[in-house]
Amino acid sequence: MDAGGNTPWNEYVALHAESLADPERFWLAAAEAVDWSAAPTSALDTTSAPLYRWFPSATLNTSHNALDRHVDAGHGMRTALVYDSAMLGLRRSYTYVELRDEVAVFAGVLAGLGVGKGDRVLVYLPMIPEAVIAMLATARLGAVHSVVFGGFAPAELAARIRDAGPAAVVTATGGFEPGRRVEYLPAVREALALAGSTGTPVVVKHRDGFDRGAGEAPDDGSGDGRSSAAGSSTTGGDAPWVDWDDAVARAEPVAPVDVAATDPLYILYTSGTTGSPKGVVRDNGGHAVALAWSMRNIYGIGPGDVMVTASDVGWVVGHSYIVYGPLLAGATTVLYEGKPVGTPDAGAFGRLIEEHRAKVLFTAPTALRAIRRADPEGSALRGHDLSSLDSLFSAGERLDTGTSAWIGGVLGVPVVDNWWQTETGWPICANPRGFGGVPLKPGSPSLPSPGFDVAVLDESGAPVPAGLEGSIALRLPLPPGTLTTLWGSDQRYRESYLEAFDGYYSSGDSGYLDEDGYVFVMGRTDDVINVAGHRLSTGAIEQAIAQHPAVAECAVLGLHDPLKGQRARGYLVLKAGSTIDAATLETELVHLVRMTIGPVADFRSAVVVDALPKTRSGKILRRTMRQMAAGEQYAVPSTIEDPAVLDTLAPLLRPTPAD
Ligand code: COA
Ligand code: AMP
Repeated sequence: MDAGGNTPWNEYVALHAESLADPERFWLAAAEAVDWSAAPTSALDTTSAPLYRWFPSATLNTSHNALDRHVDAGHGMRTALVYDSAMLGLRRSYTYVELRDEVAVFAGVLAGLGVGKGDRVLVYLPMIPEAVIAMLATARLGAVHSVVFGGFAPAELAARIRDAGPAAVVTATGGFEPGRRVEYLPAVREALALAGSTGTPVVVKHRDGFDRGAGEAPDDGSGDGRSSAAGSSTTGGDAPWVDWDDAVARAEPVAPVDVAATDPLYILYTSGTTGSPKGVVRDNGGHAVALAWSMRNIYGIGPGDVMVTASDVGWVVGHSYIVYGPLLAGATTVLYEGKPVGTPDAGAFGRLIEEHRAKVLFTAPTALRAIRRADPEGSALRGHDLSSLDSLFSAGERLDTGTSAWIGGVLGVPVVDNWWQTETGWPICANPRGFGGVPLKPGSPSLPSPGFDVAVLDESGAPVPAGLEGSIALRLPLPPGTLTTLWGSDQRYRESYLEAFDGYYSSGDSGYLDEDGYVFVMGRTDDVINVAGHRLSTGAIEQAIAQHPAVAECAVLGLHDPLKGQRARGYLVLKAGSTIDAATLETELVHLVRMTIGPVADFRSAVVVDALPKTRSGKILRRTMRQMAAGEQYAVPSTIEDPAVLDTLAPLLRPTPAD
């Protein structure tokens, strides 16, 4: 690595060092990119360490920064949002003025339902503009959104409703998946009932082709089966179900409400090691500062540039780089309702680049592998004019070097891996393309972003030498934009992240640093798995399986999958006397997981075994099973009850062709 001369690499390393040495100065300078109603006078508040807060004295509104600010500066006619639906063959553009106006009026709808500063709004929507509008309208009121991915089942939705206690729910009549329509209203109704929250008002965006009454929303007596308009309530203790369009037609626009920089902007639930999802809390001020910095310096996107992030608003990548990042930067964001393949073909991303003149495409490795599998020559992508493209960013899971080289060859642009998590909100490590870039190393998401002090630790918490693998931990404090706590539980935040290594945030990932400080991320150290870029808890899948009357106990592992990275498989022991045959049981378990967690878990394989390996105190040796399945070296724990169980299990722990 060339460390000499005034190279971007050198400059970047110096900048990163500065961010750690003097965070106060670094982040106050970065904060100048944000429009504050009261500008910060200090950056880091350490008074509740190890829980840190950024920009304690400042106030702002994130929706103002994403919209009004650009309009006020005379850029209202620039395109803010392009909705591109491959599912419906639709395109619709919104200028900054149009989006601001729609957001302001929808904020009026929410206010009419009683939503105010600090209240939660649960957003359960497919990839339609209303998802962006609902998020920004919530932020405009100083309220807190919690977006739930559409691929989750009612029980998962209910868990999030129970935890967040929303003052309103925003949903649509349905979504479109290839070959199938997804009815949202029955799921919302069931989730509200499960959560004991049937009194919560629900705003419903009607989509053509769906039944307005599918959620059995109470009729307002108009005779057309439509739900009631904003503010009107129904009998029997049920909530008012509000039709989006009716409510918008009656609402007045609302101006942005100032909030403290430290006030929450959103809660985003993610999978932990237990079945109960963790509500990651993001603040307003640190989030705006960090995303603005990342847009310019990592993604190289500024005013007027076009970014296509092919994720979903239900994931953190969608929050940060479909919605907030591009809009804070005054850029154009493309909201893509479609898949990388099959809608209609493996050239879908090429069409998006050509049609919208995208400078940056951001997607997950699984999508790239799907394109490669469908079109090994990449001809469908190459058939489009890709000349506007500057770089491809990839995140969500490890980018394997074969896929990276392949897609780089097809698109003819640098392929930039970036490593982060729901918790961090923006890349822990990335190649700062906007800053000039540093040399890419295959298999590495490059260097830590400013404020991220990355260490690799052994089990005792001591740093390991370069080249050796260990747990990746981040020295506290974390930079702005990262989680401030878990919703409703500082204690759970400490236990989940801060207690494993004193003075560090534990990422849950393992990996190593090389001599140049490049980070290599290898996989999780816990029971979290990653299926097609979707983070899932094996514990949650186990809980679903355990509901089956024939199952005595089970362990779920993530096995390697050539397309999706990992695939969940259940290993289960039947209750004594159970006579169910294996094929019937597998079908029933697949259904059970789909109904409990959702189709997104993509659970398809369950294997009956005589016994699971356990300690003498009865704890299932999941870690040892994981290591065996990954082909890693493992030590048989001295506490094991019966070592022979491991030998019997070994052949079953490998992926089969059917997987
Ligand atoms: N609402 C309802 N159901 C959904 C859904 C949603 N928003 N998203 C996915 N599902 C369903 C799918 O329809 C599918 O259901 P099925 O079992 O009935 O077919 C199931 O969940 C699994 O879907 P998916 O993970 O998308 O797998 P797939 O085999 O249909 O497609 C890929 C494979 C690679 C094309 C797809 O996984 C993909 O595009 N991945 C990219 C993921 C990504 O961008 N992640 C964000 C991290 S940055
Ligand atoms: P999520 O919170 O859903 O974004 O998932 C975060 C997890 O996905 C991380 O802890 C990693 O295990 C994995 N991940 C995300 N991006 C990458 C990447 N670029 N390289 C390796 N793993 C990644």
